[in-house]
Amino acid sequence: MKSLPDAAALLEQTLLARRDLLGDVRPNVSREALQRFTSVRTAPQAAAPATAPGRNADTLAAIQEEVRTCRLCEHLAASRTQTVFGVGNPQADLMFVGEAPGADEDRLGEPFVGRAGELLTKIIQAMGLSRDDVYIANVLKCRPDMPKGAPGNRPPTPQEMERCLPYLRRQIALIRPRVLVALGKTAMVGLVGADEPMGAMRGRWFSFEGIPLLPTYHPSYLLRNGAPAEKRKVWEDMLLVMEKLGLTISEKQRGFFRSAA
Ligand code: URA
Repeated sequence: MKSLPDAAALLEQTLLARRDLLGDVRPNVSREALQRFTSVRTAPQAAAPATAPGRNADTLAAIQEEVRTCRLCEHLAASRTQTVFGVGNPQADLMFVGEAPGADEDRLGEPFVGRAGELLTKIIQAMGLSRDDVYIANVLKCRPDMPKGAPGNRPPTPQEMERCLPYLRRQIALIRPRVLVALGKTAMVGLVGADEPMGAMRGRWFSFEGIPLLPTYHPSYLLRNGAPAEKRKVWEDMLLVMEKLGLTISEKQRGFFRSAA
Protein backbone atom coordinates (compact mmCIF):
# COMPACT_ATOMS: atom_id res chain seq x y z
CA MET A 1 0.00 0.00 0.00
CA LYS A 2 1.21 3.51 -0.83
CA SER A 3 2.18 5.98 1.84
CA LEU A 4 0.05 9.13 2.00
CA PRO A 5 2.69 11.43 0.42
CA ASP A 6 3.09 8.94 -2.44
CA ALA A 7 -0.65 8.75 -2.90
CA ALA A 8 -0.93 12.54 -2.95
CA ALA A 9 1.88 12.79 -5.53
CA LEU A 10 0.18 10.17 -7.70
CA LEU A 11 -3.13 12.00 -7.43
CA GLU A 12 -1.47 15.26 -8.42
CA GLN A 13 0.27 13.64 -11.42
CA THR A 14 -3.01 12.10 -12.57
CA LEU A 15 -4.85 15.39 -12.32
CA LEU A 16 -2.12 17.30 -14.13
CA ALA A 17 -2.04 14.65 -16.88
CA ARG A 18 -5.82 14.93 -17.15
CA ARG A 19 -5.50 18.70 -17.54
CA ASP A 20 -2.93 18.19 -20.33
CA LEU A 21 -5.31 15.81 -22.09
CA LEU A 22 -8.48 17.86 -21.65
CA GLY A 23 -7.05 21.32 -22.30
CA ASP A 24 -8.93 24.00 -20.41
CA VAL A 25 -11.02 21.58 -18.35
CA ARG A 26 -9.23 22.07 -15.04
CA PRO A 27 -9.03 19.72 -12.16
CA ASN A 28 -10.81 21.27 -9.21
CA VAL A 29 -8.11 20.22 -6.75
CA SER A 30 -5.41 22.87 -6.36
CA ARG A 31 -1.75 22.22 -5.69
CA GLU A 32 -2.23 23.96 -2.31
CA ALA A 33 -5.08 21.63 -1.45
CA LEU A 34 -2.90 18.68 -2.30
CA GLN A 35 -0.12 20.04 -0.12
CA ARG A 36 -2.62 20.51 2.69
CA PHE A 37 -3.83 16.95 2.17
CA THR A 38 -0.27 15.66 2.40
CA SER A 39 0.85 17.77 5.32
CA VAL A 40 -2.28 17.46 7.43
CA ARG A 41 -2.41 13.71 7.16
CA THR A 42 1.29 13.15 7.71
CA ALA A 43 1.96 15.72 10.45
CA PRO A 44 3.01 14.12 13.75
CA GLN A 45 0.38 14.24 16.50
CA ALA A 46 0.60 17.65 18.18
CA ALA A 47 2.11 17.34 21.65
CA ALA A 48 0.37 20.43 23.02
CA PRO A 49 -3.27 21.44 22.76
CA ALA A 50 -4.05 23.91 19.99
CA THR A 51 -4.38 27.56 20.95
CA ALA A 52 -7.40 29.75 20.45
CA PRO A 53 -6.45 31.83 17.38
CA GLY A 54 -8.06 30.33 14.34
CA ARG A 55 -10.14 27.87 16.35
CA ASN A 56 -13.45 29.36 15.36
CA ALA A 57 -15.31 26.21 16.39
CA ASP A 58 -13.77 26.09 19.88
CA THR A 59 -16.16 25.68 22.80
CA LEU A 60 -15.74 25.41 26.54
CA ALA A 61 -17.25 21.92 26.37
CA ALA A 62 -14.64 20.87 23.79
CA ILE A 63 -11.79 22.23 25.90
CA GLN A 64 -13.22 20.60 29.00
CA GLU A 65 -13.28 17.24 27.26
CA GLU A 66 -9.66 17.67 26.13
CA VAL A 67 -8.70 18.59 29.67
CA ARG A 68 -10.59 15.60 31.09
CA THR A 69 -8.56 13.18 29.00
CA CYS A 70 -5.28 15.13 29.02
CA ARG A 71 -2.13 13.13 29.75
CA LEU A 72 0.49 15.76 28.83
CA CYS A 73 1.81 15.55 32.41
CA GLU A 74 1.74 11.80 32.88
CA HIS A 75 2.58 12.05 36.59
CA LEU A 76 -0.39 14.38 37.24
CA ALA A 77 -2.74 12.29 35.11
CA ALA A 78 -1.71 9.31 37.25
CA SER A 79 -2.11 11.07 40.60
CA ARG A 80 -5.27 13.14 40.02
CA THR A 81 -8.74 12.06 41.11
CA GLN A 82 -10.14 14.20 38.32
CA THR A 83 -9.31 17.36 36.39
CA VAL A 84 -10.66 20.70 37.59
CA PHE A 85 -11.71 22.74 34.58
CA GLY A 86 -13.48 25.91 35.71
CA VAL A 87 -16.82 27.05 37.00
CA GLY A 88 -19.25 29.92 36.65
CA ASN A 89 -20.83 32.06 34.00
CA PRO A 90 -19.33 31.43 30.54
CA GLN A 91 -20.25 35.02 29.66
CA ALA A 92 -18.87 36.53 32.84
CA ASP A 93 -17.52 40.08 32.85
CA LEU A 94 -15.17 39.09 35.65
CA MET A 95 -12.88 36.08 35.70
CA PHE A 96 -10.64 34.95 38.55
CA VAL A 97 -7.54 32.89 37.81
CA GLY A 98 -5.89 30.89 40.57
CA GLU A 99 -2.94 28.56 40.74
CA ALA A 100 -3.96 24.90 40.82
CA PRO A 101 -6.50 22.62 42.48
CA GLY A 102 -5.81 21.52 46.02
CA ALA A 103 -7.02 18.33 47.70
CA ASP A 104 -10.63 19.53 48.05
CA GLU A 105 -10.82 20.68 44.44
CA ASP A 106 -9.27 17.41 43.23
CA ARG A 107 -11.93 15.51 45.20
CA LEU A 108 -14.89 17.64 44.10
CA GLY A 109 -13.83 18.66 40.58
CA GLU A 110 -14.50 22.37 41.11
CA PRO A 111 -12.00 25.19 41.63
CA PHE A 112 -11.81 27.08 44.91
CA VAL A 113 -14.06 24.95 47.08
CA GLY A 114 -11.69 24.44 50.03
CA ARG A 115 -10.86 27.00 52.72
CA ALA A 116 -9.26 29.42 50.24
CA GLY A 117 -12.32 28.97 48.06
CA GLU A 118 -14.68 29.84 50.90
CA LEU A 119 -12.75 33.06 51.40
CA LEU A 120 -12.85 33.82 47.67
CA THR A 121 -16.62 33.23 47.71
CA LYS A 122 -16.95 35.75 50.57
CA ILE A 123 -14.89 38.29 48.65
CA ILE A 124 -17.09 37.83 45.57
CA GLN A 125 -20.22 38.22 47.71
CA ALA A 126 -18.81 41.36 49.36
CA MET A 127 -18.58 42.78 45.83
CA GLY A 128 -22.34 42.22 45.51
CA LEU A 129 -21.84 39.25 43.15
CA SER A 130 -22.17 35.49 43.40
CA ARG A 131 -19.98 32.67 42.13
CA ASP A 132 -22.53 32.19 39.35
CA ASP A 133 -21.91 35.74 38.09
CA VAL A 134 -18.18 35.27 37.61
CA TYR A 135 -15.94 32.60 36.10
CA ILE A 136 -13.23 30.88 38.15
CA ALA A 137 -10.38 28.81 36.73
CA ASN A 138 -6.81 27.87 37.48
CA VAL A 139 -3.51 27.89 35.61
CA LEU A 140 -3.23 24.14 36.22
CA LYS A 141 -6.15 21.80 35.76
CA CYS A 142 -4.68 18.94 37.82
CA ARG A 143 -3.67 18.94 41.45
CA PRO A 144 0.15 19.06 41.64
CA ASP A 145 1.14 15.64 42.96
CA MET A 146 2.64 15.31 46.40
CA PRO A 147 4.75 12.56 47.93
CA LYS A 148 2.46 9.94 49.46
CA GLY A 149 1.18 11.08 52.84
CA ALA A 150 2.71 14.56 52.55
CA PRO A 151 0.40 17.33 53.72
CA GLY A 152 -0.44 20.52 51.84
CA ASN A 153 0.11 21.53 48.25
CA ARG A 154 3.06 22.40 46.06
CA PRO A 155 3.20 25.08 43.37
CA PRO A 156 3.13 23.94 39.74
CA THR A 157 6.47 23.52 37.98
CA PRO A 158 7.26 25.73 34.96
CA GLN A 159 6.91 22.69 32.69
CA GLU A 160 3.49 21.76 34.09
CA MET A 161 2.37 25.36 33.62
CA GLU A 162 3.66 25.55 30.07
CA ARG A 163 1.76 22.39 29.12
CA CYS A 164 -1.49 23.43 30.78
CA LEU A 165 -1.63 27.15 29.97
CA PRO A 166 -3.03 26.75 26.44
CA TYR A 167 -6.24 25.44 28.02
CA LEU A 168 -6.59 28.55 30.20
CA ARG A 169 -5.80 30.82 27.24
CA ARG A 170 -8.56 29.15 25.24
CA GLN A 171 -10.99 29.50 28.17
CA ILE A 172 -10.22 33.22 28.39
CA ALA A 173 -10.48 33.64 24.62
CA LEU A 174 -13.99 32.18 24.69
CA ILE A 175 -15.25 33.90 27.83
CA ARG A 176 -13.65 37.27 26.93
CA PRO A 177 -14.20 38.74 30.42
CA ARG A 178 -13.98 42.51 30.74
CA VAL A 179 -11.66 42.12 33.72
CA LEU A 180 -9.28 39.38 34.84
CA VAL A 181 -8.08 39.00 38.41
CA ALA A 182 -4.92 36.99 39.01
CA LEU A 183 -5.02 35.38 42.45
CA GLY A 184 -1.38 35.13 43.48
CA LYS A 185 1.95 35.17 41.76
CA THR A 186 1.65 31.85 39.93
CA ALA A 187 -1.33 33.19 38.00
CA MET A 188 0.65 36.33 37.07
CA VAL A 189 3.64 34.27 35.95
CA GLY A 190 1.36 32.06 33.89
CA LEU A 191 -0.67 34.83 32.31
CA VAL A 192 1.92 37.51 31.61
CA GLY A 193 5.25 36.18 32.86
CA ALA A 194 5.34 38.84 35.61
CA ASP A 195 7.53 37.34 38.30
CA GLU A 196 7.66 40.19 40.84
CA PRO A 197 6.66 40.02 44.49
CA MET A 198 2.88 40.36 44.78
CA GLY A 199 3.37 43.34 47.10
CA ALA A 200 4.92 45.20 44.17
CA MET A 201 2.35 44.11 41.57
CA ARG A 202 -1.01 44.32 43.34
CA GLY A 203 -3.13 47.38 42.78
CA ARG A 204 -1.54 47.95 39.33
CA TRP A 205 -3.34 47.16 36.08
CA PHE A 206 -1.68 44.82 33.61
CA SER A 207 -3.06 43.57 30.32
CA PHE A 208 -3.64 40.05 29.04
CA GLU A 209 -4.48 39.98 25.32
CA GLY A 210 -6.02 43.44 25.73
CA ILE A 211 -8.07 42.46 28.80
CA PRO A 212 -7.37 44.52 31.95
CA LEU A 213 -5.67 42.24 34.46
CA LEU A 214 -5.37 43.02 38.16
CA PRO A 215 -3.11 40.96 40.41
CA THR A 216 -3.98 40.51 44.06
CA TYR A 217 -2.98 38.25 46.91
CA HIS A 218 -4.15 34.65 46.74
CA PRO A 219 -6.88 33.93 49.33
CA SER A 220 -4.61 31.34 50.96
CA TYR A 221 -2.16 34.17 51.69
CA LEU A 222 -4.96 35.87 53.61
CA LEU A 223 -5.63 32.61 55.45
CA ARG A 224 -1.98 32.53 56.52
CA ASN A 225 -1.73 36.26 57.21
CA GLY A 226 -5.21 37.48 57.99
CA ALA A 227 -4.15 40.85 59.38
CA PRO A 228 -6.89 43.42 58.67
CA ALA A 229 -4.34 45.58 56.79
CA GLU A 230 -3.70 42.71 54.33
CA LYS A 231 -7.43 42.10 53.92
CA ARG A 232 -7.86 45.79 53.19
CA LYS A 233 -5.27 45.57 50.38
CA VAL A 234 -7.22 42.79 48.68
CA TRP A 235 -10.43 44.71 49.22
CA GLU A 236 -8.92 47.85 47.68
CA ASP A 237 -8.00 45.75 44.66
CA MET A 238 -11.60 44.52 44.43
CA LEU A 239 -12.84 48.12 44.61
CA LEU A 240 -10.61 48.86 41.59
CA VAL A 241 -12.19 45.90 39.81
CA MET A 242 -15.70 47.10 40.67
CA GLU A 243 -14.87 50.59 39.40
CA LYS A 244 -13.46 49.17 36.17
CA LEU A 245 -16.66 47.14 35.68
CA GLY A 246 -18.86 50.14 36.46
CA LEU A 247 -20.47 48.39 39.44
CA THR A 248 -22.18 50.53 42.04
CA ILE A 249 -20.10 50.79 45.19
CA SER A 250 -21.92 51.62 48.42
CA GLU A 251 -20.41 53.68 51.22
CA LYS A 252 -20.48 50.55 53.33
CA GLN A 253 -18.48 48.67 50.70
CA ARG A 254 -15.98 51.54 50.43
CA GLY A 255 -15.48 51.38 54.18
CA PHE A 256 -14.71 47.65 54.58
CA PHE A 257 -11.46 47.22 56.58
CA ARG A 258 -10.81 50.97 56.26
CA SER A 259 -9.71 51.35 59.85
CA ALA A 260 -6.98 48.81 59.06
CA ALA A 261 -5.41 50.89 56.28
N1 URA B 1 -6.05 27.40 45.18
C1 URA B 1 -6.07 27.66 43.86
O1 URA B 1 -5.22 28.37 43.36
N2 URA B 1 -7.02 27.11 43.14
C2 URA B 1 -7.97 26.36 43.65
O2 URA B 1 -8.82 25.90 42.89
C3 URA B 1 -7.94 26.12 45.01
C4 URA B 1 -6.97 26.64 45.77
